[in-house]
Amino acid sequence: MKYEVILPAAGSGKRMGAGENKLFLKLNGIPILIHTLNVFQEDQDCSGIWLAAKPEEQDDIRSLLDEYGITKVKSIETGGDERQHSVQACVKVVEGTDIVLVHDAARPFIHKEVISRLADEADRSGAAVAGVRAKDTMKLVEDGVIQETVNRENLWIIQTPQAFKSSVLKEAEERAEADGFLGTDEAMLVERLGHPVTIVESTYDNIKMTTVDDLIFGEAIIKSRQEEN
Ligand code: CTP
Ligand code: MG
Repeated sequence: MKYEVILPAAGSGKRMGAGENKLFLKLNGIPILIHTLNVFQEDQDCSGIWLAAKPEEQDDIRSLLDEYGITKVKSIETGGDERQHSVQACVKVVEGTDIVLVHDAARPFIHKEVISRLADEADRSGAAVAGVRAKDTMKLVEDGVIQETVNRENLWIIQTPQAFKSSVLKEAEERAEADGFLGTDEAMLVERLGHPVTIVESTYDNIKMTTVDDLIFGEAIIKSRQEEN
């Protein structure tokens, strides 16, 4: 299933504490942003990439696109203060596609096979998100005291990509904007339309580069994939 992808890349990486946007940090000698872009550059089903970036970082990003031969970027939009606003900027301009994926630029290890299942599922049902089953015992805690043990069978950890029919995502974003609603992912915006969102089982290595520990995990994932090949 053909799709276009929106990659929000306009964060600050505060939790990484690198003093710069974490997406410029390197894993195995290559910027995290390029690792993520390469997945979509190489995926035949991806017909275009829409980036959101801070104005002051757009020139550096354009240089990296040239340097690493990333040719599928159709536009770099100006990101906002919140991730949702960055995604929104791209949703407003994305065109020429029935299926749109939104994927954190900070998740470089997404598998092509999961992307493909997400795009197919979005085509079938309108909205699908990547997720993995919770592995640990989960408890609801208030003020440091356990209130209850939550049934783990029903708990999923949600990742990106999140895939949508273009019309569904556009409506969800317009409604959220009109209502001043801020969600933590795109699925939340679609859920509040009353539209079902399907889970597509993903992999535990689709981690988001968030803290310094993740750089160590990231290097390990790259190494283990190199050994597999
Ligand atoms: N993002 C964005 N615009 C924002 C905030 C985040 O485009 N205003 C992007 C980030 O660049 C990242 C993705 O959304 O690719 C996921 O966000 P997160 O992991 O939280 O990254 P940061 O916001 O950069 O990190 P932190 O929250 O630690 O500052
Ligand atoms: Mg953030």
